Amino acid sequence: MRAAPSPRIHLFVCANRREGSPLGPGCAERGDALYDALKSEVAVRRKVTEIWVTKTHCLGICPKLGATVARYPAPPGTSAIRSDVEVGDAIALLEEAPAGATGSESASWSAIEEELSAIEELQTKKVLDLARRLKPGLTMDDVQNPHDFPELDDPDWHYADGILTGMKSVTTALRGMQRRGERDVREGGDGSEGSE
Ligand code: FES
Repeated sequence: MRAAPSPRIHLFVCANRREGSPLGPGCAERGDALYDALKSEVAVRRKVTEIWVTKTHCLGICPKLGATVARYPAPPGTSAIRSDVEVGDAIALLEEAPAGATGSESASWSAIEEELSAIEELQTKKVLDLARRLKPGLTMDDVQNPHDFPELDDPDWHYADGILTGMKSVTTALRGMQRRGERDVREGGDGSEGSE
């Protein structure tokens, strides 16, 4: 026996099937669909080495809705088991506080920065793809000057672009907070020095 690398989070998704059982049919297809949704979301976020998703048999809850998921380590202060989990819950499940982290740990700036960058990148791609459906061949520089392209006078495109602008504003604000926090630590010391 030897220790092997482990993920930061390991999700076990029940896709157990039962036939003719008084306990019902099991999570079955609902578990399959949830498993697929989680796998694809983890791939999109490029977290496949950090977050493992494994299909499993009955976890003992057997919900009538959705599927049962076990999440290890459990988020601080909560159960490791989630029941009635539906496909629409996949993102929320992945965004629960990192296991074992509390306070400043869970707010680790590098983790936040990584998440923000990934989300912003996805939305940027969405905005560009949508723009290219309206006018093929547009570049990101073009998209940043939408008034030069009447084709971009489209409510759906403006909506997507508005979301991207909002994301950038949030990122800028958080970076400002981070810089202020670092400055406060530098100016106030880290508390390691004695009081005299
Ligand atoms: S069949 Fe899914 S938890 Fe029992």
